[in-house]
Amino acid sequence: MHPVHLRSAGTSLLLAFDSGEAEIVHWGADLGENLPDLAILRGPVPHSALDIPVTAGLLPQASSGWAGRPGLRGHRNADGGPGLDFSPALRVVAAQVQDGGRTVVIIHRDSEAGLEVSSELTLHPGGLLELAHTLTNSGTAEYQLDELATVLPVPRDATELLDLTGRWCRENHPQRHAVQQGTWVRTGRHGRTGHDSSLLVAAGTAGFANRTGQVWATHLGWSGNHEQYLDSLADGRRMLGAAELLGSAEVVLRPGGSYRTPSLYAAYSGRGLDGITEAFYHWFRARPQHVDTTSGRVRPVVLNTWEAVYFDHSLEPLLELAEAAAGLGVERFVLDDGWFRGRRHDHAGLGDWYVDEDLWPEGLTPLIDAVTGHGMEFGLWVEPEMVNEDSDLARAHPDWIGGPAGRLPERWRHQQVLDLVNPAAWQYIFDRLDALLSEYRISYLKWDQNRDLAEMGHAGRPSVHAQTQAVYRLLDELRKAHPGVEIESCSSGGARVDLGILERTDRIWASDCNDALERQTIQRWTGVVVPPELVGSHIGPTTSHTTARTHDLSFRAITAMFGHFGLEWDVRRLDDAERTELARAIALFKQYRPLLHSGRMVRADEPDPALRLHGVVSHDGGEALYALVSVATSFAEVPGKVCLPGLLPDTAYRVEAVYPAAEDRRAFLQAAPPAWLAGGVEASGLFLAESGLPMPVLNPEHGLLLAVRRTTAGAPAADPAANSAHPVRNP
Ligand code: GLA
Repeated sequence: MHPVHLRSAGTSLLLAFDSGEAEIVHWGADLGENLPDLAILRGPVPHSALDIPVTAGLLPQASSGWAGRPGLRGHRNADGGPGLDFSPALRVVAAQVQDGGRTVVIIHRDSEAGLEVSSELTLHPGGLLELAHTLTNSGTAEYQLDELATVLPVPRDATELLDLTGRWCRENHPQRHAVQQGTWVRTGRHGRTGHDSSLLVAAGTAGFANRTGQVWATHLGWSGNHEQYLDSLADGRRMLGAAELLGSAEVVLRPGGSYRTPSLYAAYSGRGLDGITEAFYHWFRARPQHVDTTSGRVRPVVLNTWEAVYFDHSLEPLLELAEAAAGLGVERFVLDDGWFRGRRHDHAGLGDWYVDEDLWPEGLTPLIDAVTGHGMEFGLWVEPEMVNEDSDLARAHPDWIGGPAGRLPERWRHQQVLDLVNPAAWQYIFDRLDALLSEYRISYLKWDQNRDLAEMGHAGRPSVHAQTQAVYRLLDELRKAHPGVEIESCSSGGARVDLGILERTDRIWASDCNDALERQTIQRWTGVVVPPELVGSHIGPTTSHTTARTHDLSFRAITAMFGHFGLEWDVRRLDDAERTELARAIALFKQYRPLLHSGRMVRADEPDPALRLHGVVSHDGGEALYALVSVATSFAEVPGKVCLPGLLPDTAYRVEAVYPAAEDRRAFLQAAPPAWLAGGVEASGLFLAESGLPMPVLNPEHGLLLAVRRTTAGAPAADPAANSAHPVRNP
């Protein structure tokens, strides 16, 4: 069988079949068209080892000597007991390149064991690799699947590993260490993706950073239990892998039955993590359902009522809030938790998806009319997968609560999980949501999910797998029935952020923490995979409700701008100065929204740990918006010259500080600002990237927004006096 070579955006994926298995012999930098005869790659055989070179197959197997974590584990219960067909010898019977050379479909078969695996690998145009396997039981007895993993080899120069972890209000924090021998496993048993799940597992060359080093990174597109790992073997080989973590006998395939893995998404970059991000963003933005600027469906500025009124729902105050929001330039008003029957606090009501008649005697219509009358869209919070025991639903159908046989799992936020594997429960939820979306002018659902699926079971058996699929189907069917409605995936903040849920939702809520300082880290690392237009990011109250830190509006606004911007604040209570500044910040976001939601994300490798610099550069290199952020006090009296990477080197640019104003005494602590701050400056992309500009002394927990625009296609303007002709555009 001939080798298969997929190439895209600087990445090559080269598969050889000489061993009888499919083996990825190269996943990394583009190798060009001319390849040697791959037979030269047959390696040596060491002493005290198998007599043939061990193949690191696409499905690593003990049948060819693989002693690491196997790709497929399972067995058959037949001929008097379990354990049969425990060690597959899957060999390739066909490999077909499809889709104009982007995809290869490989069929593996073990006729003796009655197993067949079809593997699909697609190298998308931006360089993102997608891999999934489908296992079919071609035998005559049931086959119990324990694990089917998607794995990719990484070369020996990948000596450092970076993954992400977190908790409620502190999602997606990085951790890294040197690769040692052994297996580094990140396990998610939350029944949802999890606050601590690793959005990305990246292996790279020593010291790989935002813009330097080689990196190989993976993400598993699945919202249930899972494992992600780096398997580093004694023979020197390394595999990045991920799999759904199945419960006992959770997947038992009848003859003819099949199981498909979640997709593994992977990217290679020869220029640090920014290259990985570019591959993911390219993929997201190429999806037909992507809500972006090219489709004309810009992300509306949101006001969410949660941190403004919590459960305190009544028409008059909410009408006032809607009016205040509209006056500021808000474009979508989202009514959060508290609107449905019996929901005055978080102990009761989940499951009773009827508008509360006591709170809303005329239904939601008066509020929706006011919201839409102000020219805003209306959005509604729901948590369809959950049920309070104190609800009419649970009283009528106690058996619709998921769990082990004979008892309920422990409560979490006073709630239980609705067993959506039960067709009657699924249909009830579908019908209620369908009715609400049909009756009211709702453009948006904030779809929440606020607990782990601990001990999740249907009919006494583990059911995270089936429950996850039932949730996906619920979302899919509702989208089909109401194609105009956008859906946000929220899960106690960012506990369900993955490409499985994002296939059927339009944004994620990154965290319940609206503290701008915390958000700088959460959004930076969520944004390594998910583009800003899909990451909900709100200006919260002046003093954060989740950390009690107090931040200036400019820092909160500059932080929220690099996402799907919104407010979660009681804007009825603003003083005049705040209202004016907030309206200007919203206008500024709208001005840069097309750029922020379509451009290339750039993160500098800033040497001062107190400072961060990130920006978005348009794809033609014509404009950019950067944020310099001070996250702590610096060791240095003055920040020195900070470089702005990512622009076209030979192009002349004008740089202007746009927010906050140069004379803002709260943001800056300096006797005099740098010379360019008040009037802006012109310089080449090369100068800005390699030499940089002296930055003002920012107080800790403040930011500075810098707008950059191409002046001419030629050299930078020589006349520095020209700079002072441009006043600072303060919002
Ligand atoms: C979760 C969400 C919040 C809010 C509350 C409502 O915690 O993450 O944003 O919607 O539920 O109960």
